[in-house]
Amino acid sequence: MAGSSSFTQHAAEDEADIIPRDIRFGILGNATRHWYDGDIIKTVMADGLSIFLPEGERYFIRSLKHYASKLTDRELAAEINGYAVQEAFHTREHEDYNKAMASLGYDVEEMEKPVRFALGVAKNPLHRLAVTCAIEHLTATLSTVTLRRPDLLESAAAPYRRLWMWHALEEIEHKAVALDVLKAVTPDLPGWKRYLLRVSAMNATVIPFLLIFLRNTRLYARTDGVKTGVRFWLRFIWVVFFAPGFWRRCMPLVLKYYLPGFDPKNSDDAELVRKGRAWLYQEMPPAAAAAPAG
Ligand SMILES: [Fe+2]
Ligand SMILES: [Fe+2]
Repeated sequence: MAGSSSFTQHAAEDEADIIPRDIRFGILGNATRHWYDGDIIKTVMADGLSIFLPEGERYFIRSLKHYASKLTDRELAAEINGYAVQEAFHTREHEDYNKAMASLGYDVEEMEKPVRFALGVAKNPLHRLAVTCAIEHLTATLSTVTLRRPDLLESAAAPYRRLWMWHALEEIEHKAVALDVLKAVTPDLPGWKRYLLRVSAMNATVIPFLLIFLRNTRLYARTDGVKTGVRFWLRFIWVVFFAPGFWRRCMPLVLKYYLPGFDPKNSDDAELVRKGRAWLYQEMPPAAAAAPAG
């Protein structure tokens, strides 16, 4: 069964708009082993990411909402609302996605354990916000790569392909919100201190992320009866760095975060957003066109 959508396309959507779209992709009813080209490594690249998301996205929402009432910039507070609704829909769909994985025999509970632990390390709200900024940059990076090359997902099973394209589009739409909040709540922090806060949070995020991802990849493969010896990891390296090279494509964009003046708003993604919306609305037509909001 295909998914269902109950979102409306406005007659004049601006590329800068954050638009939550309530779409159900029906992954749970369509659980598919190796849904990405019948290839375990390509599939675990996506499934392994989904393991982080329900817990991660709830964390992002809490991190930003903590500051929402303290902001004097009403426009930014409204953006937090759009952001939170988008992330809440993502959480719902990735919970279904992970249940689908569990129904195929993967030990999702075991794979989620270190994610919960890692997200519990930072206690200070500002540090949690900085971690959210770092992860938002990583998700925006993966989303940019996904939207630039939708052909890479062309032969993947439709419910999964649609979910990832929808998620990528909305991550780009809200890519700047977390960092805007960080800047708004630290007006007196010298630039170099904010920079250190940002990059140390990125370092503290990316290293555990890689370790957990690799550990979970091993658990995932073992469930499928695939030996995780040298041959497996050589092929893993081939897929992530060479063909199609998901991580190689991400690396230059990830590194931009380390530039002192980094601001997601400086990269113009209007064309990417237009392309992503056109793709999504063609695959999953909105309920009806409506007059522009406001
Ligand atoms: Fe998300
Ligand atoms: Fe996000």
